Amino acid sequence: MNRLVIKNLKKKFNNTWALEGLNLQLNQGEIFVLLGPNGAGKTTTLKLIAGLLRPTEGEIVIEGTNLNDDPIKAKSYLGYVPDEPFIYNKLTGREFINFVAGIYNVSKQNYETRLTELMETFDIGTWVDELSESYSHGMKQRVIMCQLLLHNPNLVLIDEPLVGLDPKTSKTVRELFVRLKEEGKTLFISTHTLSFAREVATKIGIINRGELKFIGDIEELSRISGKKDIEDIYLKLSADNGIV
Ligand SMILES: Nc1ncnc2c1ncn2[C@@H]1O[C@H](COP(=O)(O)OP(=O)(O)OP(=O)(O)O)[C@@H](O)[C@H]1O
Ligand SMILES: [Mg+2]
Repeated sequence: MNRLVIKNLKKKFNNTWALEGLNLQLNQGEIFVLLGPNGAGKTTTLKLIAGLLRPTEGEIVIEGTNLNDDPIKAKSYLGYVPDEPFIYNKLTGREFINFVAGIYNVSKQNYETRLTELMETFDIGTWVDELSESYSHGMKQRVIMCQLLLHNPNLVLIDEPLVGLDPKTSKTVRELFVRLKEEGKTLFISTHTLSFAREVATKIGIINRGELKFIGDIEELSRISGKKDIEDIYLKLSADNGIV
């Protein structure tokens, strides 16, 4: 069974099509990185999979469950990080994590073990018990990463994971993504950071104006473009295909 199947996914906002028929299949142990210019449809795609937007047309099936038919079950398999990390200001980091764990029905025993593990991974200090309104952007991002992984999701959706992270945390996140892949998880990540795509992606997609223009691993994209460096590959494919 595929972990994620997207069939002919379309999204129209008012009179403009943000997504014009996206098809994609992902299996376990894949890291899919979606690249593309501003306004191409990356965030829209992730929000549709996370169930935050309803498709105008098309289907999304997660672990064999159609998101439209059984949204609660389909969403129980996924974890999502939006492009703007959000934590309620008047909650502490720990309260926020606890709140999300409750939504996903994480058992008390799993909660304690996994939280300790994740807090160590992301180097989260005693500030986790302070109100999140006092957090820097990167501190919020780290708490968000903990709540993302606490319920052990099979499908992890992340919109721009590296923005605002310091170099050390950014390395931690890259290593963690590779470890999750090795554990058989599936990651769907949107980013503008090409070096990150080169380093972690098993599959790269390039989207422009709501259409997936290319999909393949780095070797395939390199062959099609005749370039080696990820930035040259991206720019060559963009220039040849009117991607702006
Ligand atoms: N809520 C909305 N209402 C109207 N139009 C929207 C809405 N959300 C997105 N759009 C439009 O859909 C298109 C795709 O936007 P989206 O946010 O998916 O792009 P993106 O690829 O994530 O861009 P970026 O790289 O800047 O994050 C854009 O034309 C945008 O203006
Ligand atoms: Mg976006």
